[in-house]
Amino acid sequence: MSVCTQVLVDALKTVKDPELDNDLISLQMVKDLACSEKGEVSLTVVLTTPACPLKEQIESDVRRALMRVRGVKKVTVTMTAETSDGTVPAECSGGAEASGKNPMHPTPAGPGAEKVRNIIGVSSGKGGVGKSTVAVNLACALAKLGARVGLLDADFHGPNIPIMLGLGGVIPEITQGKQANGEPIDMIVPVERDGVKVVSISFFIKEDEPVIWRGPMLHSALNQFMHQVDWGELDYLVVDMPPGTGDIQISLIQTARLTGVIHVTTPQSVSVLDVAKGVALFKSQGIAQLGVIENMSYFISPATHEKTFIFGQGGGRQLAEKFGIPFLGEIPLEVDIRVGGDTGNPVVLASPDSAAGQAFISIAKCMAAAISVANVSRRGGSCEHD
Ligand SMILES: Nc1ncnc2c1ncn2[C@@H]1O[C@H](COP(=O)(O)OP(=O)(O)OP(=O)(O)O)[C@@H](O)[C@H]1O
Ligand SMILES: [Mg+2]
Repeated sequence: MSVCTQVLVDALKTVKDPELDNDLISLQMVKDLACSEKGEVSLTVVLTTPACPLKEQIESDVRRALMRVRGVKKVTVTMTAETSDGTVPAECSGGAEASGKNPMHPTPAGPGAEKVRNIIGVSSGKGGVGKSTVAVNLACALAKLGARVGLLDADFHGPNIPIMLGLGGVIPEITQGKQANGEPIDMIVPVERDGVKVVSISFFIKEDEPVIWRGPMLHSALNQFMHQVDWGELDYLVVDMPPGTGDIQISLIQTARLTGVIHVTTPQSVSVLDVAKGVALFKSQGIAQLGVIENMSYFISPATHEKTFIFGQGGGRQLAEKFGIPFLGEIPLEVDIRVGGDTGNPVVLASPDSAAGQAFISIAKCMAAAISVANVSRRGGSCEHD
C-alpha cells in the first residue's frame, strides 16, 4: 500500500457512520480507494441501505476529511449501497432460543425467500390503526429510494393491499421453479406496481368470497407465500399482518426468517395498550423490535392550519420509550392518505412532496437505518437477537 493510500485510510478512519456508531474503514464501507500523482482521490462508499437518511452527511464528511490531507486536490466520491442482511443465518436461527427464549424453530427458507435480505413484519394489536396503509406507503417509499422491495399481504381474512395499490382483480402468473433436490415446483410470480412486488390471497379468490381458514390452513398458505413465490433478490420484504397476536403472527415467526417487526399505533391509549401485547409476543420469541410508528397523530385544518390531536398526543413515543424501541415518526390524519388507499394511489406515489408523502419517506429512511443498526449489531457479536 502506498504511503498516500495509508494517509487517506487514516483520514477516513475519522469519518463515522453516526447511525452505526463506527468509522467507515472499520465498517468496511470504503471500496476502490485510489490516488493519482496529481492528488486526485477517488473512492466508492458502500452504504448499508439505499434509503440511508445520512447519505449526504456521510458524503460531505468523507469529502471534508480527504480534502484536509496534504496534497489532495480533488475528491470524487461514488455513493452506492449493499443492503445489510437481516435474515438469520441457519446456524443462528435459534439465536434467541439459545438464550432460552425461543421455543420455535423457523423452518428453512425455501427457494422463494432465500434471496430476501430483510423480512419486516408490520404489526399492531388493534385493528384499523393504519397497518396496511403504512405497509403500502413504506414499501413504495423504499422502492422510490432505490431498494428492491416486496410486499406480502398476510391478512388472509381482510386482504386490502391489492385495492390500496390499484391491483384489484389481477391474476398473477405461475412459473416453474426448482426445489433444492432438483424437483420442479410451481412458483407464483408477484404482481409489480412501481417497483414493489406484491402477493396477496385476494389474487386467488373471488372479490366477495370470504377466507374461512383456521390455524393449519393459514399456516400452510403463509408458508407457501413465503417460499413458493418467485420473490427474486429483495432488499426488503414488508409483511402486512392482521391485527392482534393470533395464528398469523405465530405462523410468521415460525415460517419466515424475520429481521424484525415494526409496530403501528395511534396515540390513543387503547391502541397503545394493544400494541404493548404485540411487543411482548415478538419479544418473547426473540424477534427484534425495529420501531414504533404513530399514525393519525394529528389533523391540520385546511381552513385554519390549526393542529388538532384527535386521538390524543404522544402515545406512540411514550410506548417506544417504555420498551426501549426506536420511535420512527408520526403520520398525520389526512384525507389524501385515505383517498390514496381507496383509489389505489398511495400518497407516497401520488404526492410524494406533500406533508404525508414526506412523513412516510422520512419514516422509511429511519426504518432502513434501524434495520441496518439491528443487522450490524447482530453480526458484530455472536448470533444473538436483541
Ligand atoms: N393517516 C391517515 N389519514 C387518513 N386516513 C387513514 C390514515 N391511516 C389510515 N387511514 C385510513 O383508515 C382506514 C384503516 O386503515 P388500514 O386499513 O390501513 O388499517 P389496518 O390497521 O390495516 O386495519 P386492519 O386492522 O383492519 O387490517 C383506511 O380507510 C385508511 O385509508
Ligand atoms: Mg390491514
